[in-house]
This record gives sequence, structure tokens and C-alpha cells, in this order.
Amino acid sequence: MLKNYISENKDRFINELMEMLRIPSVSADPKFKADVIRTAEFVKQKLQEAGADSVELCETAGYPIVYGEKMVDPALPTVLVYGHYDVQPADPYELWNSPPFEPVIKNEKIYARGACDDKGQMYMHVKAFETMMKHNALACNVKFMIEGEEEVGSANLGTFVKNNLDRLQADVILISDTGMLGNDTPSITSGLRGMSYVEVEVTGPNRDLHSGSYGGAVANPINILCQMIASLHDENNHITIPGFYDNVEELTEEERAEMGRAPFDLEKYRQALGIADVHGEKGYSTRERISIRPTLDVNGIWGGYTGEGAKTVIASKAYAKISMRLVPHQTSEEITEKFRKHFESIAPASVQVVVKPHHGGEPVVTPTDSVAYQAAARAYEEAFGIKPIPVRSGGSIPIVAMFKAVLGIDSVLMGFGLDSDAIHSPNESFGLFNFLKGIETIPLFYQYYAEMSQHA
Ligand code: BES
Ligand code: MN
Ligand code: MN
Repeated sequence: MLKNYISENKDRFINELMEMLRIPSVSADPKFKADVIRTAEFVKQKLQEAGADSVELCETAGYPIVYGEKMVDPALPTVLVYGHYDVQPADPYELWNSPPFEPVIKNEKIYARGACDDKGQMYMHVKAFETMMKHNALACNVKFMIEGEEEVGSANLGTFVKNNLDRLQADVILISDTGMLGNDTPSITSGLRGMSYVEVEVTGPNRDLHSGSYGGAVANPINILCQMIASLHDENNHITIPGFYDNVEELTEEERAEMGRAPFDLEKYRQALGIADVHGEKGYSTRERISIRPTLDVNGIWGGYTGEGAKTVIASKAYAKISMRLVPHQTSEEITEKFRKHFESIAPASVQVVVKPHHGGEPVVTPTDSVAYQAAARAYEEAFGIKPIPVRSGGSIPIVAMFKAVLGIDSVLMGFGLDSDAIHSPNESFGLFNFLKGIETIPLFYQYYAEMSQHA
């Protein structure tokens, strides 16, 4: 019955998503401020139309949080849905086959910035809710909290949560902002890495210099920065920051063997990325490197002259943005501090180094023996006809650990994206199959969660 409604309305669902995708809600760039707010209003309106009560834009020091709820019966469990309506910047635009904010459907996929992360996945919840409301089939109470600052570190969400402890009370948090292994190998995310993000600035001479008059005698901050960054990994691709691995949770051989049972095709992986070989920490498989091991990556590096032609110059300053992905039981504060101390200590006397911490977030492992996880697993099994497996993801959603710490509530990470959706990259996409399958799976979760909570 619900399935029929979804297939009868699928064109409208897709068109509504495409309408939202046309609004460039890039939270990182103030140029898009009005569009980000317009997207919040769009979500608010769609929640209202779907039948939510008390829908409002909750103002924060940054972008508003869209809140709405439907309380059907205090005796039923309450699901708190979290998602985000902001998107990553679309740069570089020239690498897109079609403009990032003019969604198109090609090969059964919607191409646009935010198609998967997270507008497409967040909107599945709005349409699943509409579907349940239309059929009087909402099996749980539901609260929606859709934010607009996820891609820039959710700086104001913590305050909002702390100020709304009662309003946000729930039995479980439900999030679709991750992926699964494949459409024929559904999986449920059972963990996320944490994050320390820093910017470094290396200063040499007090002005840009002629690279002939001074080259060879004065430290070139770009050369120095490159040497410093290169030294952060050793020949085995271990990170050299003292104490970096002190608190890293080592998995048992059994746990690693269990993880190793998830299908993985190295050849396909290489091909999809156009690389001749993978690269990473010695002693760990690719899957382990992107889930249970911490990393350090330069996300951007700049300085000196990068314009047309050549300019012979020793720049005064060089910069880099560096992210470190963290695993249980590292903390972002600990790792940021260890990085800062080490990075300052390896700088030669000829330069000055400043380390500026950006956002951080804590790693999390979500329980797989909970009623909520089991309900999600049954929902996937019914919708896909295949039992899902738990997989720890390499990405970060810092609010998941924060929700657990502040609200005491576990999350269930029901993602429907695929690696091939290319989130954060040019030509991001989301499969129509995935979008519609998500809308179908979510009501099954509500149904099983309500049933199984009763018997728990
Ligand atoms: N949806 C992603 C997180 C994600 C991606 C989880 C892939 C699992 C698989 C989220 O929007 C995101 O991009 N998070 C940022 C962290 C944030 C602090 C900017 C990330 O992981 O880089
Ligand atoms: Mn996301
Ligand atoms: Mn993202």
C-alpha cells in the first residue's frame, strides 16, 4: 500500500528534490547566505505540507535549524530524524558535466551538488513521513531536526541541543547521511571516524623576495612547509606525531576477520578511481585503512605565485589545511594538541609556524545489538531482499557522538548513498533507485521499531 503510493508519486517526489537542489545552499561561502536560508524555508514548507506540527525555523548564531514533529501517541517510541540541508562548495565548476545547481537525470541518477549529501537522503525522510501520514501509518512519534551547518562543523548545533533538551527527547536518532556497500550488498553504518581539522601558516621573510637575489640564503616557507608535511608520515605510512596512536583502539583478530568478510573488489576500486595502486598504512587492508585506522591528509596547500606564466619569487608565507580522521578512543582535543606541539617543534628556526585549530568531532561506534539497529536491519532486509551487514565508515558526522554525550541517545545510520555518488566531488549524484528505496525502507523501520520496542 505504501509502496503503491511511493511509485504513484515518485515523479513528484523527484521533482521536489530537484527543486531543492536548484538552491545553492553552500554553508561555507557567505555569498550563498540568502540561498541557504531559502533552502531552510523550503524544508520547513515541505514538512508542513507533509503534515508535521510545530514546524519552525529555529534561529542560531549561524544558519537556522528546521524543527518539526508529529506526536501521535505518548505510548509509542519517538524517533528523532537528523539531516542537513547545506551542501559542500561545488568548486571546481569546470569539472562538472552539467552545472552543479541545475540538476539533471542521466542513467537513472540525479546529478547535482547535494543530490546524495544530504539533500537527497534527508528528503527521503520527508517523503517517507508524507507517505506514512497519508496512510495513517505513522507507527512512532517523530521529530525532525534538519540543520544548515553540517558541512562547516555544526558549530551552533551543540548550543541548540543543550537549550532544547526536553523538546529533543527521543528513543533513537535516525540519520541518512552515510552510504552502503552496494545496491545488491546493503549495509548499515555502525561507526564514524572523528576529526581534527587545522590550518597551518608558515612565515619566512617579512615580504615576498626576488628568488635570485635571496634564493639559497633565506628559508622558503613553501619548501619548508612541504618538508614538514612530508615528515608527518614515515616509510610505512604511519603518522609520526608523537603519541598519535596512544589511544587508538586496536581490534582483535576476530573482529578484523569479521570485517574482512564484507565484499571488497580491489580491482574495481582501483578502476573506479583511475589509480594504478592503492596507498596506505602498512599492515592494514584498504577497508581497514578507511574505517578503523586514523589518518592525516592535506586538504589544500597554497602560497606564492600561482597565476599565469612565471614569477620568480620566494613567498613570505605558505599555508595548508590539514584534516586528521580519528578512531575510538582518540579525541579531537588530544590530537589537535599533539599535532600543534609536534608541528611547532619540527619547524626550523628560519621560519615561524602558527597552527590554528578549526572544527573537531569525536569518533563513534553505534551499537548493533540494539532494538533500533535490529529494526533497521529488518527494514533493509525486507526492502532489498538481502540481509544488510554492519560497516564502519570512514566519514565523520560529529553530531552523532555529541547526541550520545548530551542527549544520551544512540543513532541508527541508515544510509543509502554509494561511493560512486561522488559526494564532495564534481558530478555528485544520487540514484533514483536509492532515493525511492530509502523512502520505502524508512517506514518499515518505524513499523519494526514500534513493534520490537513493545516486546523489548
Ligand atoms: N555525510 C558526510 C559524512 C559521511 C560521508 C559519512 C561519507 C559517511 C560516509 C558529511 O556531510 C560530511 O561530509 N562530514 C564531514 C565532516 C564535517 C566536520 C565537515 C566529513 O566527513 O568530512
Ligand atoms: Mn552529509
Ligand atoms: Mn558532506
